[in-house]
Amino acid sequence: MSKKLTISSIKKSKGDKPLVMITAYDALFARLLADNADMLLVGDSLNMSFAGKSDTISATLEQMIYHTNAVCTGAPNSFVVADMPFGTYVNKKSALENSIKVFQQTQADCVKIEGGADKAETVKYLTDNGIAVCGHIGLLPQSVRSEGGYKVKGKTQEEAAQLIEDAKAIEDAGAFCMVIEGVKAEVAKRVAESVSIPVIGIGAGKDVDGQVLVFSDMLGLFEEFTPKFVKKYIDGASLVRHAVASYADEVQKGEFPKEEHTY
Ligand code: KIV
Repeated sequence: MSKKLTISSIKKSKGDKPLVMITAYDALFARLLADNADMLLVGDSLNMSFAGKSDTISATLEQMIYHTNAVCTGAPNSFVVADMPFGTYVNKKSALENSIKVFQQTQADCVKIEGGADKAETVKYLTDNGIAVCGHIGLLPQSVRSEGGYKVKGKTQEEAAQLIEDAKAIEDAGAFCMVIEGVKAEVAKRVAESVSIPVIGIGAGKDVDGQVLVFSDMLGLFEEFTPKFVKKYIDGASLVRHAVASYADEVQKGEFPKEEHTY
């Protein structure tokens, strides 16, 4: 995909064609992923698959800025979403201060914050001050410790009603799109139908306005655990192990380097 999407073209895509979002954490992969993704998300999931931690909670703003810079450099024509990490948007003032840092120190096109109606005031404050916001509702990975695990949402009528209220609240507050994570498919469908901005799903079924996957999950590189919603398009871990085993074998046998690899 050569032409960079804009906030307006992303909004207009609703009902037209599904949006393709993939996470990216560095320039190398951003370059590879950019050709086929509408949006690259520098997700705080990098704290798990890149930094090796057990959840996203300890990701820092500095870490997110570093990785967002790398992604923007590797894929200058991609629409880049920068995740705001845990603790950086606890109130609207800190949210704006930290989002301004992201905007001033990277080329990110928007920030993403987790939360629904409870974050509407913050979303409005950011958008009123020139920061484009992608919302994130449903299963919120930054709440994993307070909720005691990753819990699928939308299982009761109350939860379904709350999700619809959350989506409407952040749309009204000015968000231009949102991610919906870990939600029963029929409820995610109703959420997508209840707002006029794109709702991009992860573990939320097919009846939404786009899909997002973590690149290291879909490439089979992340082996710690595989959520039900992940499809591994290649077994990247086996391919890498196989390649490195061949290299080690050739080095040990004196078969590498050959003439063509030698000055
Ligand atoms: O951090 C991340 O990668 C995300 C996706 C799971 C949507 O927020």
